[in-house]
Amino acid sequence: MVQDRREFLKSAAWMSAVAMAAGCANNPLKLFGTTGAPMQGFALKPMKKVRVAVIGVGRRGVSALRRISMIPGTEVSAIADLFQDRIDGELKWLKESGKPTPKFAKAGPEEYKRICESDAVDVVYNVTPWHMHEPIAVCAMEHGKVALNEVPGTQTVDGCWNLVETSERTKMPCMMLENCCYGEEELLMLNMAKLGLFGEITHGEAAYIHDQRDLQFKSDRYHTMDGERDAAKAGKPGWTLHFYAKQGGNQYPTHGLGPVAKYMDINRGDSFDFLVSIESKQASYRHYAQELFDDWRRDFGVKIGDMSQTLIRTKLGRSILLQLDACTPRPYSRINLVSGTRGMAMGYPEFRVALEDKTGDGKAHKFMDEAATAELRKKYAHPIWKAAGEVAKKVGGHGGMDFIMDLRWSYCLQNGIPLDTDVYDLAAWSSMVELTRRSVESGSKPVECPDFTRGAWKGGKGFTIDEIDLSKLPGDFGGVKHDDNSDANARQEGFI
Ligand SMILES: NC(=O)c1ccc[n+]([C@@H]2O[C@H](COP(=O)([O-])OP(=O)(O)OC[C@H]3O[C@@H](n4cnc5c(N)ncnc54)[C@H](O)[C@@H]3O)[C@@H](O)[C@H]2O)c1
Repeated sequence: MVQDRREFLKSAAWMSAVAMAAGCANNPLKLFGTTGAPMQGFALKPMKKVRVAVIGVGRRGVSALRRISMIPGTEVSAIADLFQDRIDGELKWLKESGKPTPKFAKAGPEEYKRICESDAVDVVYNVTPWHMHEPIAVCAMEHGKVALNEVPGTQTVDGCWNLVETSERTKMPCMMLENCCYGEEELLMLNMAKLGLFGEITHGEAAYIHDQRDLQFKSDRYHTMDGERDAAKAGKPGWTLHFYAKQGGNQYPTHGLGPVAKYMDINRGDSFDFLVSIESKQASYRHYAQELFDDWRRDFGVKIGDMSQTLIRTKLGRSILLQLDACTPRPYSRINLVSGTRGMAMGYPEFRVALEDKTGDGKAHKFMDEAATAELRKKYAHPIWKAAGEVAKKVGGHGGMDFIMDLRWSYCLQNGIPLDTDVYDLAAWSSMVELTRRSVESGSKPVECPDFTRGAWKGGKGFTIDEIDLSKLPGDFGGVKHDDNSDANARQEGFI
């Protein structure tokens, strides 16, 4: 299906931003809609040049802007942020790097609306705090722009439906920027899964385990919910801590879940069915604040438990363990495990594989040794990493996965190819924020997962192993340089 997005501009009407509906655990969930999934496999006509508006140039947005501007055929044509000096910093960087000056660069909480209305933009790349993902994406699609949202795509199930329905009505793609789906190991494992090396997949494990105590309580980076910069100095929680203080459940589910959902073809052959969630008490943030501070932070209550654990069952009977721990002093992990009738692989603490050659030969009782694992990595490397891994590693930032992700969506738009994941994937993965909270608040009762594809998952042909032909991009990567900013932000290589 190829559609001219400008045709839809004429009929598109601006809808008011949708209010966040936190704390709605008692409202009934909308589980089904009435039609299938028309945005599955949907592609726009090829774009000669992809003109991108970056909304939010904070910790993550600065790296995104710099990566995007290094991709041939892709240009940053607009910037918005709450703070003018952050925008000025990026204008300076673009100028010094010999890149075109964006047509629009203005500070203010509503400037994204002007950008969405502008003719100088094709894609709205949304790197703002969580509660702004949905209103900005809706505004973008209503004005005929592709909406790319940082994670999670939105925080509520109603919000997920809103994005699904807006994407379908406006015929504008809406994709979540789940960079972990593009990790070298995640794509290797997807390739292996597709080739049947794990046999019939029955189980996956996914997590976001990242000690953020310093980041949440000490960092001068986060602004408050009312837009005061440097939350710690303002004597208030930053925007992330605000959400952690307000509600439990898994508020950051997609880094681990996205790749596992792809191994299992969720929405394209299988579907999340129901989940149960259990959360430990909160202790680590409390101990940390009480031991280190004498100010407002000392008695600041955080609701999110130290460990949130969810078990998801899929319609085809697979199981997934999903964890979030953002505060315990322990090493970083996304687990990233997949297992089936022929073997398994896992990403943490290091990439390991155990496979049978023949059913029951006992080989999978032990992990492969280092040499055999290295051989396997080479043999089953994903074609996109084979084509662009070198340049991605040069740019840096989470080992290159961020660049691979950005390169891929721009490549798809330039070549009229459907984006790798769609609004249904965004919705299924992001809905975990509310679904896990509902289960926790009901004493860990099972909660049904909405089917955002409205039955279309049954006919799905599965995720595909795609290629990138760099000769189809207008230009080379001559200007690519290492983005120190990306690595500085990832406080340790591999941290997301
Ligand atoms: N995928 C990843 O690896 C990854 C890593 C870090 C953060 N993130 C995501 O990126 C997003 C931003 O996180 P961050 O750490 O950069 O936060 P941040 O607070 O450093 O940056 C957010 C920026 O958005 C701006 N902003 C806020 N409201 C705005 C509005 N109405 N209009 C324009 N700009 C606005 C702020 O001024 C700020 O500069 C979050 O959704 C987060 O979950 C993803």
